[in-house]
Amino acid sequence: MSKVKIGIFGVRRGSSVVKYCRTQPDVQLVAICDKWEQGLMDKKKELGEDIAYYTSFDDFIKHDMDAVVLANYANEHAPYAIRCMERGLHVLSEVLPCQTMAEAVQLVETVEKTGKVYAYAENYCFMAAPYEMRKLYRSGKLGEFEYGEGEYMHNCESIWPIITRGEKHHWRNNIYATFYCTHSIGPLIHITGLRPVSVTGFELPFNARMERMGAKSGNTGMEIITMENGGIIKSLHGLGPSKNSIWFCIYGTLGRAESSREDAQYGGHGRIFTNLDRYEGECFNRPATYCPGADEPSIVQKWGHGGSDYHVMHNFVDRILGNTDADTIDIYEALDMFLPGMFAYRSVLAGGIPMDIPNLRIASERDKWRNDTWCTDPAVAKEQLVPSYSKGNPDIPDETYQRIYEEWINGV
Ligand SMILES: NC(=O)c1ccc[n+]([C@@H]2O[C@H](COP(=O)([O-])OP(=O)(O)OC[C@H]3O[C@@H](n4cnc5c(N)ncnc54)[C@H](O)[C@@H]3O)[C@@H](O)[C@H]2O)c1
Repeated sequence: MSKVKIGIFGVRRGSSVVKYCRTQPDVQLVAICDKWEQGLMDKKKELGEDIAYYTSFDDFIKHDMDAVVLANYANEHAPYAIRCMERGLHVLSEVLPCQTMAEAVQLVETVEKTGKVYAYAENYCFMAAPYEMRKLYRSGKLGEFEYGEGEYMHNCESIWPIITRGEKHHWRNNIYATFYCTHSIGPLIHITGLRPVSVTGFELPFNARMERMGAKSGNTGMEIITMENGGIIKSLHGLGPSKNSIWFCIYGTLGRAESSREDAQYGGHGRIFTNLDRYEGECFNRPATYCPGADEPSIVQKWGHGGSDYHVMHNFVDRILGNTDADTIDIYEALDMFLPGMFAYRSVLAGGIPMDIPNLRIASERDKWRNDTWCTDPAVAKEQLVPSYSKGNPDIPDETYQRIYEEWINGV
C-alpha cells in the first residue's frame, strides 16, 4: 500500500484531518460522511468532486477505503469503530473511546478478533511539553513515578453555539463532569506506561455558566487516581470553569518536570521546566527550562493543538504502513485513560468512595461488565440510566437551547 485511503466521519473536528491528507504524501482522502448537510456541502465546495460525500454512514462504510477517522459524537465512537473494524477498516477514534463498560468489552474483543489497527486520538499526549516529559521519564532521568497532575480546563461558553448548535440532546449537554477526562489523564498514562488501579471522583458544582450553556453537569470534574506502583495522579478538567488551563506536572524519584502555566506568557504550555538529580538522594537544585518542540519543522509546530494533531495522524498512518514502532495509543491504553473518568463518577454517585478500575486486558474480567450499560445516554443506558449531575439533572428551559441555536445560525 503506497497511500492509505482515508474516510472521515464527522466534518467539524474531521477538518483537522483534511489538512493532513492535503499536505502529506502517504494518504489520500477519499470520502467524508456527515448527516449535517450544510457542513458537508461546505466541505464539497472547499475540496471539490474528487472526494465522495455521504450523509449516511451505511453508504459511507461501503466506500473503497483502508481507514476511517471517527470524529462523530464523543459518546458514540464505539459502535462505529466496531462496525468499521468488522468490515476490515483501520480506525482512528477521536475522544472518548466508548460510553459504557459493555461497549468497552465489545471494542476490546473486536480489536483482538479483527487484528485491525485501532488508534486512540488523544492528541494532548503529543503536545511538546508532555511528550518531552515522556522522553525524560522513559530515559530514566525522572526516576520512578511518584506523583503527577494534569489539567484541561476549558471555558467553552463563547464557542458553545458552534460546538452544540443549540441541540438540547447534544452529548456536550448531557455528559457527567468526569466524562471528558482523557486530555488531562491521557498524557500522564502515556508518559509513565503505568496502569490506573483505583479512583476517587469529585464534581465541582453546576454553576451559572453551565446554566447559560444548557450543560447539565458539574462545571469541572476531578479524579484522584492510584497507579499500579502506588503513585498518584490528580486530574482536573472542565468545560465550564472561568479560566482555561493546559498544564502537566510529574514528580519522579529523581526530580520534577512540569509545563509552564499559560498565564506566565513564557512559551505557554509549550515550555517545560525541569529540576533533576543525577542520582537518587543527590537533592541538588538544578532548574532548567526550554521549549522542546522548537526543533520541529514550523509547519508541524503550527498544526492544531500545539502540533499534536499532526503527530496523531502521522503515527496512525505509519502504523498502518507497517511501522510497529509508530507511537499510537491502543485500545487498552485508551481505556486506561478513560475508565478513571467513568469510575470517578461512579465514585461521586456512591458518596466519594474509591472505585477499582477494571483491567480488560484480562479476558476473565470481561464477563462482569458485558451487560453494563451504565451511562447518561437514555438510548444506550436503558434501565441503567444515571443523571449527568449527581444532585439531579438541572432544569434547563427550552428557550436556552433556542437562544444558543439562534446565536449559532446568526454567527454571534
Ligand atoms: N482531540 C481534540 O482536541 C478534539 C477537539 C474537538 C473535538 N474532538 C472530538 O471530535 C469529535 C467531534 O466533535 P465536534 O467538535 O466536531 O462536534 P460534534 O460532536 O457535534 O460533531 C460530530 C459531527 O458528526 C456528525 N454525526 C454524528 N453522528 C452521525 C451519524 N450517525 N451520521 C452522520 N453524521 C453524524 C454530526 O452531524 C456532527 O457534524 C468528538 O468526539 C470530540 O470529542 C476532539
